[in-house]
Amino acid sequence: MKRLLPVMIGAALLGSAQARTLAEIKKAGVIRIGTNAEFKPFTYFEGLSMRGFEYDLGNAIASQLGVRAEWTSQPFDNLLISLNGDRFDLVISSHGITPERQKAVDFSTPHYCSGGVIVSRPGGPKTAAQLKGKTVATQVGTTYVGEIAKVVGTKNVRTFPNNADALQALRAGRVDAMVNERFYSLEALKTAKGKLQQGDLLFQEKLGMAVAKGNSALLKAVNGALKTVQVNGTYAKISKSYFGQDIRCR
Ligand code: ARG
Repeated sequence: MKRLLPVMIGAALLGSAQARTLAEIKKAGVIRIGTNAEFKPFTYFEGLSMRGFEYDLGNAIASQLGVRAEWTSQPFDNLLISLNGDRFDLVISSHGITPERQKAVDFSTPHYCSGGVIVSRPGGPKTAAQLKGKTVATQVGTTYVGEIAKVVGTKNVRTFPNNADALQALRAGRVDAMVNERFYSLEALKTAKGKLQQGDLLFQEKLGMAVAKGNSALLKAVNGALKTVQVNGTYAKISKSYFGQDIRCR
């Protein structure tokens, strides 16, 4: 044990816990999916039930694989760590496909395309130029953090564990703006009933589902299932039910 300990710590940091193979998942009849379910309309709770575009899509993909999906919600910034620690087989939580993340995990073909938009109180900043010198809120561990920092500098970014807290800080006037996912922000604007306004799209990104690095049979099966549901109309139906439009990448 003593001699093994450094090896085990090393493995944990590298995230090399053995991921379950596609065959193992099929044998168990269950795929474990991780998400951060406070991201309406992607994954969120309505009472005790999880719902959302990614929830329905994940279930459709599981059904293509012939297994049941078992969902777990946890903070966004440790989803990929848990994936590499084999707590999940798949993570579906609107992850932007970035070169940095690709060093740690493998991504599916994008399951949708979107971007980060500026949100502020009426009279507040609406463009990247107007953000200069302002404080901007967003969720910790997201691609938005780096994109905001490019415009306002690291010191003016305020990160929050939850999107709801970032939104609250904006509504309470503790920050000047928020940058968040386009459709998440539209949802937030609806709830705010005129107390918030939408600004420009700050950047665009492709969002993907993640599997542990090197879990290639699972990745191939997930890509195949995504393709099938995109061809057979299931994807369009789910997407339209949440967004009124098909949000696949064109
Ligand atoms: N698209 C952003 C990123 O990749 C944010 C995703 C946040 N997702 C969530 N379920 N809270 O970092």
